[in-house]
Amino acid sequence: MSFKIKDGITWVGKVDWELRSFHGEDLSTHRGTTYNSYLIRDDKVALIDTVWEPFAEEFVEKLKKEIDLNDIDYIIINHGEIDHSGALPVLMREIPDTPIYCTQNGIKSLKGHYHQDWNFVPVKTGDKLSLGKKELIFIEAPMLHWPDSMFNYLTGDNILFSNDAFGQHFASENMFNDLVDEAEVYQEAIKYYANILTPFSKLVAKKIEEVLSLGLPVDMICPSHGIIWRKDPLQIVKKYQEWAGDYQENQVTIIYDTMWNGTRRMAETIASGIKESNSDITVKLYNSARSDTNDIITEIFKSKAILMGSPTVNRVVLHSMAVILGVIRGLGFKKKKAAAFGTYGWSGESVKLITEELERAGFEIMDEGIRVMWNPGPDDKKVCVEFGRKIGDILKD
Ligand code: FEO
Repeated sequence: MSFKIKDGITWVGKVDWELRSFHGEDLSTHRGTTYNSYLIRDDKVALIDTVWEPFAEEFVEKLKKEIDLNDIDYIIINHGEIDHSGALPVLMREIPDTPIYCTQNGIKSLKGHYHQDWNFVPVKTGDKLSLGKKELIFIEAPMLHWPDSMFNYLTGDNILFSNDAFGQHFASENMFNDLVDEAEVYQEAIKYYANILTPFSKLVAKKIEEVLSLGLPVDMICPSHGIIWRKDPLQIVKKYQEWAGDYQENQVTIIYDTMWNGTRRMAETIASGIKESNSDITVKLYNSARSDTNDIITEIFKSKAILMGSPTVNRVVLHSMAVILGVIRGLGFKKKKAAAFGTYGWSGESVKLITEELERAGFEIMDEGIRVMWNPGPDDKKVCVEFGRKIGDILKD
């Protein structure tokens, strides 16, 4: 599959319907993904990015049907991660002298991955590459989301090639936002932001400001994953500005793990207490052992507060809880509140441990938390409801 984006611009990437995890097994991709590669034909020919390594041979064979590879004048690699640069070794065997334009950090990354001394041309923000009637302007975007990341702007067609930014893991044969269910696309876009870009939100906000201040018209945004933003392309830029601004909805998410349902009963009773005192707030419950970690992270991203609960096991917490605590510490959420709860049989450290971890992860602790011995009885349930009511009050707008 290849398709025309505009006169002289062809999508030559790969739709990967099958993919269910990314970054190894670390990130779930329920709707597959695409690896977008773009061929620009002007007086000169430029290829922007490639595809993931397992599809390298297929990519190069398809590209040969599109163009004589020797007619490619420039290869632009916006980001060295393997999902975009993975076909380079196969491609460069065919056209070994073709220059590869990337950032200085891109050279380090590509050399580190492939150990080849290809014809690298380092570029920085503001550098231009004339293709004839149009030119590509390079914009470095360090830490969005790797040090080497870069955008390009194509004059004449007013297209921003944004690499991972504004992308989504979303497989589709209809590759434009006006041809698909945008609600689905946004579910994947926010999941992508929450799980990958959250730690870099300050840089996201600054980079968007910088790009907008150039005053360049943007008719289309072509990311490296998922659909192309053609209808009202700046809508995703506005969403990113919102998401980068310590985003939160009127939601509290309760995440728990449970051995014999005691902590689950606490979670559900606390939830009922929250709704009693604060009927406007959305309350969502997730058993962390039975839910997708990245979906939970997306819900945390959307929340103004979270409650986390685990029984005490061997003086610590159940392992699914430890995983979530580790992930949120790395993501560095800002301006969110939290508290802990849990059951225990004898030593009972889980609530204190979770609270300490939440504090370390940057959450504002709303309450020292509650713990219940064994399975909650009627008096314990009253305590849970009271706790929920208190949390509901704190979270009133
Ligand atoms: Fe899609 Fe950072 O690679």
